[in-house]
Amino acid sequence: LRSKYLQAISAAADQSALEDLRVQAVGKKGEISLKMRELGKMSPEERQRMGPKLNALKDEINAALAAKKAALTDAALNDRLQAEWLDVTLPGRTRRTGTIHPISQVTEEISAIFADMGFAVAEGPQVESDWYNFDALNIPPEHPARQEHDTFFMSRIEGDNRPPHVLRTHTSPVQIRAMQDQGAPIRVIAPGRVYRCDYDQTHTPMFHQVEGMAIDRDISMANLKWVLEEFCRAFFEVDEVELRFRASHFPFTEPSAEVDLRCNWSDGQLKVGEGDDWMEILGSGMMHPKVLEAGGIDPDRWQGFAFGMGIDRLAMLKYGIPDLRAFFDSDLRWLRHYGFSA
Ligand code: PHE
Repeated sequence: LRSKYLQAISAAADQSALEDLRVQAVGKKGEISLKMRELGKMSPEERQRMGPKLNALKDEINAALAAKKAALTDAALNDRLQAEWLDVTLPGRTRRTGTIHPISQVTEEISAIFADMGFAVAEGPQVESDWYNFDALNIPPEHPARQEHDTFFMSRIEGDNRPPHVLRTHTSPVQIRAMQDQGAPIRVIAPGRVYRCDYDQTHTPMFHQVEGMAIDRDISMANLKWVLEEFCRAFFEVDEVELRFRASHFPFTEPSAEVDLRCNWSDGQLKVGEGDDWMEILGSGMMHPKVLEAGGIDPDRWQGFAFGMGIDRLAMLKYGIPDLRAFFDSDLRWLRHYGFSA
């Protein structure tokens, strides 16, 4: 009996085989347990002889079971350690992190500069109604300015007789939406995507503008000039800038001015605030009374200035990027070269 069980225990392959053996030998109805129960029927002499032998056998079997159990647990752990072995001295595989696109970077810079001057950020949809993109900005259907906008039209929904929606051709419709949402006084900028059907080295069908607008009791062109100068100083990181206001025409401003920045644009290097070149950077003016009215604001009590400038153009100037089209090619080498780390 003893050698039968000791052999079986040492040969047990796993914990469950071992458990079976335990039940067979020393379980309630196990072979050894039954033998011990028979002690009662024996003569006292026999009991005295067999009792200690059986007890010793039981102890020995229990000890063998425990030892084998420990050995199996150890072996299982070793197997796991072997299988899950990991060389922590191997060099790691580095992941390339992406970069911040110059447009996102410049949009952030612009927003931060205007935030310091009290301008909040407003937004509007890129698919815009004809009314917000044109009529509300004093561009009625027959107005020649509509032709100059190279507009993308959305397809008409059958049975809908309104003029088709458009991909907004400028951020100016956000002027109207912000006035309607917030009333006066108000100071906002509205950066975002705009669309015109045009494509060459300096034009892409999608590009970015930032609109600016300030309405209060007695806002004037002088305020506009200071805000733009302050912006250019901060954006181009120079102490002095010189701006040239050229009389111009936009349907939504009166008077209107296009603004040029004095710069030196030689051997691909831009220097702002010096030199004999003038770089056009934006359109601006005093908000037309009809535009204030379209936004629900009384033109007899309030007046405001507005401006719109091209973000992509500003990014090209500040960071010396030659071709606008490359901004939107998603070429990883370009993005790594001109991108900003987070
Ligand atoms: N919306 C004009 C454009 O896209 C720019 C502009 C905005 C001009 C606001 C005047 C005032 O060209």
